[in-house]
Amino acid sequence: MSTYVFKEKQFSSLYHKYIISGSSEIMAMILSYVAEKFLFTPYSIMYLKNEPYCKDIQKGLPLPLSLAVDVGCGTGKSTLPLAPHFKSVLGIDFSDSQINMARQCNAAENVSYTVASAEQMPLEDESVDLVNAGFAVHFFDQDKFLSEAVRVMNKNGCLALHACHPSMQVEYKNLSQDLTQVMHEAMANISKFDCNSFEHLSSQYQSIYEAVPLKDKKWITDITEKVSMSTAGLIGLLQAICCFQIFKDKDPNGANELLKNTEQRLHDLLGEDAESAVFNVYFKHHCVLACKS
Ligand SMILES: C[S@@+](CC[C@H](N)C(=O)[O-])C[C@H]1O[C@@H](n2cnc3c(N)ncnc32)[C@H](O)[C@@H]1O
Repeated sequence: MSTYVFKEKQFSSLYHKYIISGSSEIMAMILSYVAEKFLFTPYSIMYLKNEPYCKDIQKGLPLPLSLAVDVGCGTGKSTLPLAPHFKSVLGIDFSDSQINMARQCNAAENVSYTVASAEQMPLEDESVDLVNAGFAVHFFDQDKFLSEAVRVMNKNGCLALHACHPSMQVEYKNLSQDLTQVMHEAMANISKFDCNSFEHLSSQYQSIYEAVPLKDKKWITDITEKVSMSTAGLIGLLQAICCFQIFKDKDPNGANELLKNTEQRLHDLLGEDAESAVFNVYFKHHCVLACKS
């Protein structure tokens, strides 16, 4: 199983340094979806009469939210942004090394991390207001995870599953098309060492959306995010993709060749700008949102 890669300490450092994470627009979308589901219900009014714990930044409204769980939390990149909005946040990942890195790099007073599997979460029935999984559900046993998520969700509890499309657009001077082509070719090579995940990402989670066993659900696609990246960042990103590590394990020479070749092609295109160039890189995010009524 490809996900063994995440259990290697060296990979966690690489992952933490280079991988891109959930977009701020997706996070805002998730929070306003949760607010919409909680604020106008008797359940939330009951909470609001007591102690409101958090503020929805956008609306300036108190959110009566107790527990969020970030499943497949990795190094905590999408766990920490949840912290201001919930009384407590729990990050779950089956990799010791990812959890250790999360504890070191993305700590907060109301955030804790634990090693556990997405298919068997150490949580009571109906105890969670938000089950979040960023860049992760495509690695899980989806049927088992989805029924586990529904088990732990409170009434009006929400589910958010998000990631981005594997292809990216690189924008830089008059070289955008050529640079994008180089990155697309590198990704196409890496995707040969795939474990279904590229399929899920390329379809923007369509079959995962269809499999969510809740009536109240929606599927949002094509949310563009712009990230500033250097040549080193692009090469680092390729290495931080799980499939690249599988490639490296199966064919170390081939994997190193791909990296060297990609870097050389970027350098040849950029010439003297190679070291200093900062690109606008566009990623297309998608999100499945659902609510347990
Ligand atoms: C691509 S990373 C995403 C990490 C993080 N959510 C982020 O946005 O950066 C996927 C994570 O899912 C974890 N993972 C994969 N399968 C899992 C499972 N069955 N149970 C728990 N964690 C799992 C991996 O260890 C890895 O840290």
